[in-house]
Amino acid sequence: MRSRPTRTITLWVILTALVLLAPCLALAQLDRFAIVSDTHVGSPNHSVYPEVISMLDEDGIDVVMHAGDAINSPGDVSEWEKFLEITGPDKTLHLAPGNHDINGKSSLETYLHFFDAPYSSFSEGDTLFVFLNTELPGQESRIEGAQLAWLESELAKPFRYKFIFLHEPLFPAMPRHGLDRHKAQRDELHRLFVRCGVALVVAGHDHLYERKARDGVLYIICGRAGGRAWPGRNGNSFSYIVAERTGDLYRLTVRDLEGTVKDSIKVARPPLTESTQAPGEDEAEKSAVQAAEPLPAAEPPPAAAK
Ligand SMILES: [Fe+2]
Repeated sequence: MRSRPTRTITLWVILTALVLLAPCLALAQLDRFAIVSDTHVGSPNHSVYPEVISMLDEDGIDVVMHAGDAINSPGDVSEWEKFLEITGPDKTLHLAPGNHDINGKSSLETYLHFFDAPYSSFSEGDTLFVFLNTELPGQESRIEGAQLAWLESELAKPFRYKFIFLHEPLFPAMPRHGLDRHKAQRDELHRLFVRCGVALVVAGHDHLYERKARDGVLYIICGRAGGRAWPGRNGNSFSYIVAERTGDLYRLTVRDLEGTVKDSIKVARPPLTESTQAPGEDEAEKSAVQAAEPLPAAEPPPAAAK
């Protein structure tokens, strides 16, 4: 039988090891992932998703965050099967569904045949990833009710980085083509993001690439991995984003299908302290979003584009 001093020493050794290992455990991050949107698999307007996936394969990227319109015809089982076949069994996929994925109860049921939940989240290290659903039947272009309550509880968690993915943008390039259809609720959602220290919000829906920072939150629209491309601030080439964690910050690189870098952004947040675990607006505004170069002026989107 162990003596009391031996048990005390063992306890101290375990506690010391935990303290020493804690920083290493906290560093277990998702080092690299891709961000795509609006792949529109099944669309007659050529989906380029297979080309995007083969570029990710070449790059060794096996985690894909998708901001919706994965398929073209809501509820079409064969399009979902094709989409998942192209994605491949070796990729980890996280999806925020779009209006071409869900447009009513029947296509929501089909969606839930392939995916576990209508909205979801996961975390890696100091980063929380949230995937919202802007297409719930009866709540289109809004985040409200049970989903909003769930989102508030997720965002109350003390993560240094909080990334949101959703299909319809809060601040779309084309007016009334996103959550701005319900401006009061949209503004509330933006204030929640600011209050909770959200660093990045990625949307699709507008088939272009653009970014803007508001009150310390970086908003990106990247609906450019298929479907009909709109003219945008970086020409009309198809594109996707590679996100890489380097040290304390994330670098986002926008690439077209030739591999040309179209934009490069650093996303950095200060480390959490006791006073910043639930940041107020002042703290959120300290968030650093640094772009390598400003984007050129945008061309107006086509009025009838979808
Ligand atoms: Fe789309």
